[in-house]
Amino acid sequence: TAGAQTVSGSDKPLVVAHRGASLHAPENTMAAFHKAVEMGAHVIELDVRLTKDGIPVVIHDAKVNRTTSGKGKVAGLTFKQLRELDAGLYFHPSFAGERIPSLAEVLDTFSPVTRLLIELKDPKQYPGIEKAVAGMLKERSLDNSASSGIVVQSFDRSSLQKLKELLPQLSIGILVTGAGKLRTRELKKIAQYADYINPSRKGLSTWTIRLIQANGMKVYVWDIRSERQAAAMIKAGADGIMTKNPEFLHSLKNRL
Ligand code: G3P
Ligand code: CA
Repeated sequence: TAGAQTVSGSDKPLVVAHRGASLHAPENTMAAFHKAVEMGAHVIELDVRLTKDGIPVVIHDAKVNRTTSGKGKVAGLTFKQLRELDAGLYFHPSFAGERIPSLAEVLDTFSPVTRLLIELKDPKQYPGIEKAVAGMLKERSLDNSASSGIVVQSFDRSSLQKLKELLPQLSIGILVTGAGKLRTRELKKIAQYADYINPSRKGLSTWTIRLIQANGMKVYVWDIRSERQAAAMIKAGADGIMTKNPEFLHSLKNRL
């Protein structure tokens, strides 16, 4: 399976396909996720919001405007209305007919064979999203990360703490920008409920990566856009590299 592959002969770093293989296919669609697996990514990253009728769906923006044929807020449309929109055409005519996936469809297609990194997007705008996602994982017996390979991440720490209370066996990731400001005191607090700190690449030092790891957490860096950036982060000891192009990281493996 994709999960069994390695990049550099060790388990590190994992290739995390950011919104799927979103350089090659429309982001956050089944096409992008299948492409990621085909390209050998170890993990699929995806973004989750709730529809008007409370269904978890996979889309990055708060509005459907940029990535679909429709207009309006995800929170203002029912699941049925969202499913009528085309989520592939904006990217390339060959992807016409792609739909906004439900989280259920992604889980039922890829878990637990392929690891998923699920981001809760702006969870405060979607009251009940933690309960909805927790319920879906629980009813599929995917709430134990050791066997499901699922990690849930967000910028919103209180939302993640809520989720961790609902699902104590689930691995949690904290998204951060400016990770260089993190100090041991804060890291120790975060480590009480989180397993990953996932920082943006800008200004991220080897020292900070090591400090996070010394506090018992892993580091998945985003958003890696070139082989040079990937090589620097691998050298710095990152556990995972989030990228829209899983391919270039594989091309590095012989040089590591
Ligand atoms: O996974 C990290 C990254 O996804 C956060 O940024 O905007 O791509 O969701 P964004
Ligand atoms: Ca994301």
